[in-house]
Amino acid sequence: MALLKILQYPDERLHTVAHPVVAVTDEIRALVDDMAETMYSAPGIGLAATQVDVHKRVIVIDISDARNQLHVLINPEIVARSGDSDDEEGCLSVPGVFGKVQRAGKITVEATDRDDKPFVFDADGLLAVCVQHEMDHLVGKVFVEYWSRMKQSRLQARLKKLRRKVL
Ligand code: NI
Repeated sequence: MALLKILQYPDERLHTVAHPVVAVTDEIRALVDDMAETMYSAPGIGLAATQVDVHKRVIVIDISDARNQLHVLINPEIVARSGDSDDEEGCLSVPGVFGKVQRAGKITVEATDRDDKPFVFDADGLLAVCVQHEMDHLVGKVFVEYWSRMKQSRLQARLKKLRRKVL
């Protein structure tokens, strides 16, 4: 296994749209393992392949405190959504930045697992928010891009200042 480099916003590669996985091969399983290791080590609760510059529809998530409930979602699709949520979100590609996004409160997701088996699961609360956040990455969208233009330009200014400080 290997730690992967996480792209940092506003890296243009974060806007790449991922391709569906055609078959869950050993190569995909190795990607899943590396992504899980990278997410746990960061530490974060979710990671999309887009964030490690691999443009395939693969997501790993673990919101458990014990860090022992890994969800692997290959080719995830949301087939039902209801309710509302506007939890505070953060992102490994935008460190130190948090903010609210309007999301569905409950979702039903169809995906394929690490063993190439299709499955369906219902998620609510933080898990539902996390799945929606990671699925956005797969279509090239970062959570801060939901914000108003004014809030986004304030963020850009702040990131510029931060970058100057780490010289
Ligand atoms: Ni993210």
